[in-house]
Amino acid sequence: MNLSTRSTRIVPSPTLSITAKAKTMAKEGIDVIDFSAGEPAQDTPDFVREAGQAAIQSGFTRYTPVSGTDELRQAIIDKFQRDQGVRYEQSQILVSCGAKHSLYNIFQALLDPGDEVIIPAPYWVSYPDQVRLADGTPVILETRESEHYAIDANALEACITARTKALVLNSPSNPTGAIYSHDTLERIAAIAKKHKVLVISDEIYEKLVFGDPPFFSIVSVDPEIVHQTVVVNGMSKAFAMTGWRIGYAAGPKDLIAAMSNIQGQSTSNPTSISQKAAVAGLQGGSSFFDDMVKDLRPKRDLVVEQLNSIPGVTCPTPSGAFYAYPNVSGLLGRRHSKGTIATPADLATYLLQEAHLACVPGEPFGSPLHLRLSYTPTMETVQKGMERFRSAVQALS
Ligand SMILES: Cc1ncc(COP(=O)(O)O)c(C=O)c1O
Repeated sequence: MNLSTRSTRIVPSPTLSITAKAKTMAKEGIDVIDFSAGEPAQDTPDFVREAGQAAIQSGFTRYTPVSGTDELRQAIIDKFQRDQGVRYEQSQILVSCGAKHSLYNIFQALLDPGDEVIIPAPYWVSYPDQVRLADGTPVILETRESEHYAIDANALEACITARTKALVLNSPSNPTGAIYSHDTLERIAAIAKKHKVLVISDEIYEKLVFGDPPFFSIVSVDPEIVHQTVVVNGMSKAFAMTGWRIGYAAGPKDLIAAMSNIQGQSTSNPTSISQKAAVAGLQGGSSFFDDMVKDLRPKRDLVVEQLNSIPGVTCPTPSGAFYAYPNVSGLLGRRHSKGTIATPADLATYLLQEAHLACVPGEPFGSPLHLRLSYTPTMETVQKGMERFRSAVQALS
C-alpha cells in the first residue's frame, strides 16, 4: 500500500505496546506483574458509573454539540474557577475524546509545516509524534534529574527561534513524577510572554500529588499568561476513567474554535454517556482522588526505597502521578545468560522475559538511562514486583 509519508513519521505508542505484551503473557497463564500501565488500578467511582448508567436509561444517547454539552462545559468552568482561580467562558472550553485527543486537536489547529514546538525531556511519548503528525518539528529541551527536571530559563530561551509556536509543560510529569515549582513557572511565563510563545499545559495528573512541592497551574501563577495558554486536563487519571475517553482543553477562543472545527470533521462530540459521567465526577468532590493519593503514597515510598537500595540503580522521589523513574545507568553493560544489557530497552525485555515484570524503558520518553515503573497495583503486588526486580538485577553479572 502506498501510505502517506505522514503515517510513516510516527511509531506505535511504546507504553501501550508493552502493556499489550504483558496482557498477552497473562492470558497465556504467565504470572506477569504489570508496572507498565498508565492508569489507576481503582474502578471508576460508583457515583460516576451510576451517572453513566442513568444517561443510558434516560436515552441520553444521541449526538451532543461538538464541543461538549453546556452542562459539562459549565462543570469544567466551575472546576477551573475552584482549583485554578481562573474564570473561562464556554467558548473557551472544548471537550474531546481524552486528553490525548485534546492535544492532537491543538497541534492540528496550531501548526504549519516546519513550525517548532519545544518539548522538555523526559516527555510523555505522544507529544513529539503528535507534533510530527501535524507537520511540525519537535524541539527537545533537555532537563536534569539532579535539578528535579526543572526547566532552566536560559536553556529555554536558547531554544526559541522565529519558528517557535508553543512550549509543552507537563506537571506533574509522566514519566518523572516531577512538579514545576511556583518560581519555575513564573520564570517560564515571563519567557513565554516575552517571545509570544503559546504554553500548552498538560495537567492530567493534577490531582495525583503528594504535596512537595505543591502543584500550581501556570495560569494561577501569572494572570497574564492565561491569554497565551491552553490548559489540557481530563477524567482519565483523577477519576480512574481511562476507558470513558473524556479530556478537555481551556484556552484562547480562536484556538478553541479551530480545534472544535477539526473535531467536528473527525470524531464529532465525545460520547454522550461519558459526558454525563464526567459531570458527576467533576461535581463529586475530592474524596475519590484523595483516597487514591492515600493508597499511592506508601507504594511510592516503598518503590523508591527499594530501588535506591539496589546497587546500580538510583531513584529520586516523585512528587506526583504514579510513576517511579529510576536511573538504571549503573546496570548498563551487565550480562545475563542470553546477552548484554546495553540499554534500558534491553533491561525491560530482560525483566519481562526472565522475571515476568513489565516496565517501560526510558528511550521513548527521551531519556536513554531510565526505566518507568507504574506503582498502581496493590501493595502486595508492588512488593512482589520489587522482589522480582531485585532478584533479576542480582542475577546479572
Ligand atoms: C501526560 C499525559 N497526558 C495525556 C494523557 C492522555 O490521557 P487520556 O487521553 O486518557 O485523557 C496521558 C495518558 O497517559 C498522559 O500521561
